[in-house]
Amino acid sequence: MDGSLRKVAVIFLGSPGAGKGTQAKLIAEYYKVPHISTGDILRDNVARGTELGLLAKAAMERGELVSDELVCGMVAGRLAQPDVNRGFVLDGFPRTAMQAGWLDAFLEDEFFDKTHVHLSLPIVIQIEVDYNQLLRRLTGRRTCPAGHIYNIYLQPPRVDEVCDVDGLKLMIRNDDREDVIRERLAAYELQTKPVADYYWEKGRLVAVNGDLPVPDVTAQICRVIEQQKSAVGAGDPSGNY
Ligand code: AP5
Repeated sequence: MDGSLRKVAVIFLGSPGAGKGTQAKLIAEYYKVPHISTGDILRDNVARGTELGLLAKAAMERGELVSDELVCGMVAGRLAQPDVNRGFVLDGFPRTAMQAGWLDAFLEDEFFDKTHVHLSLPIVIQIEVDYNQLLRRLTGRRTCPAGHIYNIYLQPPRVDEVCDVDGLKLMIRNDDREDVIRERLAAYELQTKPVADYYWEKGRLVAVNGDLPVPDVTAQICRVIEQQKSAVGAGDPSGNY
């Protein structure tokens, strides 16, 4: 099967450390669509000291969510870029019930209305991981400045603290400190779990077991995407998704 021939729009949901970023990168690469991570975009803005970064920085450092208004505006800008014409993988968005409602309205009113009529509403994939495993994943995570993700316990680089792909020095994310991790997990329970309920009630949520090794999780996700695409394709004589 060649993922590059298909159009796809996917949302990844899951707790901090569930593996959204890891899987979103692989799926985006496979289907040749952009990986849109709100966390990565925000961290990049913080690092560059932009106005958006300055507004987001304090909340991120405390492990709290950045305001809906700021994040929705940022996503609207990203989805207006031409590279989303074959689809996209959203990672870390939506993260509140308000963001989920906003996204559906935006896609229906502005996105599909224009040049993206061939895409249907995104497939929503919830990555589920055991709580103790999440803590190991977050405390052991190391990232390279170009975004490659490692884990000193579970997915170590070949050479300590050095990225296998580009040789850059690996870093610990500012919000991967234990006190901030607790806040992030609490924000997830309180604000992001209702997003899963929102999609579940609409019959659009599919859960995968994220406790398995990375390739096994990816295989489950690809199966879900292909099944959903066939289901949509069956109702569409053009075969387009
Ligand atoms: P964000 O960057 O989105 O962070 P997060 O949701 O907390 O998720 P993480 O990036 O921590 O985890 P992940 O699920 O991507 O796991 P990963 O693949 O890295 O957001 C950061 C902050 O930005 C938020 O706290 C908030 O302030 C703000 N923000 C972002 N979006 C926002 C929004 N929409 N609204 C408001 N505010 C927003 O994997 C984790 C580790 O596990 C890695 O070490 C990896 O190597 C390892 N691993 C992954 N999969 C496996 C596996 N299957 N087996 C073994 N190890 C694995």
